[in-house]
Amino acid sequence: MKVVSTVAELRAARRAFPSLGFVPTMGFLHEGHLTLVRAARARMGAVACSIFVNPTQFGPNEDLSRYPRDLQRDLALLEEAGCDLVFTPAPEAVYPPGFSTRIEVDGVTAPLEGAVRPGHFSGVATVVTKLFNMVQPDAAWFGQKDAQQCAVIRRMARDLDLPVEIVVAETVREPDGLAMSSRNVYLAADERQAALCLIGALRAADAAFADGEQDAVALRAAMSAVLAGEPMARPDYVSIADPDSLAELDAVDGRGAVASLAVRIGKTRLIDNLLLGEARQKWLR
Ligand code: PAJ
Repeated sequence: MKVVSTVAELRAARRAFPSLGFVPTMGFLHEGHLTLVRAARARMGAVACSIFVNPTQFGPNEDLSRYPRDLQRDLALLEEAGCDLVFTPAPEAVYPPGFSTRIEVDGVTAPLEGAVRPGHFSGVATVVTKLFNMVQPDAAWFGQKDAQQCAVIRRMARDLDLPVEIVVAETVREPDGLAMSSRNVYLAADERQAALCLIGALRAADAAFADGEQDAVALRAAMSAVLAGEPMARPDYVSIADPDSLAELDAVDGRGAVASLAVRIGKTRLIDNLLLGEARQKWLR
């Protein structure tokens, strides 16, 4: 496994791989990230991973300064997962002095996370475009865990004819159903227990949908009822949305839906989602 931190070294190292998969990350890796690395390697023969806590996707009151980091541990995990190339740039290597270009994706960035975190998806879209240009992968893997991020990257790749296939991989969960996240380390023991209300709420919507409920108001109510039963949970939103635009639906049709939610537990903000009906086949194919 080769580890590089400048774009020049990266470009030189990249030439060794005729076909390359790519997994962009912000580090503090867990089994969710490593599953993407293994999937990319299995399909492409070689995989690159970036570790970069991207400052431009954090809001002024968000957790940039306390975002968890452990590069030595990440490198050991990547080596074990069969990663071939790791890119760990310094902020100055990604954002040179005078940097003044941004990618803005309209529409799909407006609701949900975009509404609560202004500028977040512009930061994500810009850094992912730059990472694609630096790494020049043939395909890139993203986790369903960040469903809106997947929808934004897919929209951008189509709109800008980026020569990178975007692959979405299913969310990896702890045995009790909590979606793995680098931010789970922020949770105290009682908060960790309370955090199970996210998957509980999503499963309630999934079960109601499986029982034939297509009314989005009723499906959102099923989620909200579970969250209301957890005193530590402060919901930002519960959503039943169109699988492409992520606009709120009145009713779920044959195309299915993305059921998603964001919940604050103590100082930690958690997100999760499940794909309902046909959306699951379409997103994960
Ligand atoms: P990060 O949060 O580190 O996540 C890196 C990738 O791992 C993302 O595609 C994310 O969706 C995926 N991932 C996270 N938790 C997962 C889980 N439990 N199961 C499956 N996949 C999971 O997302 C980012 O970094 C950044 O926004 C980035 C794309 C790197 C741009 O800065």
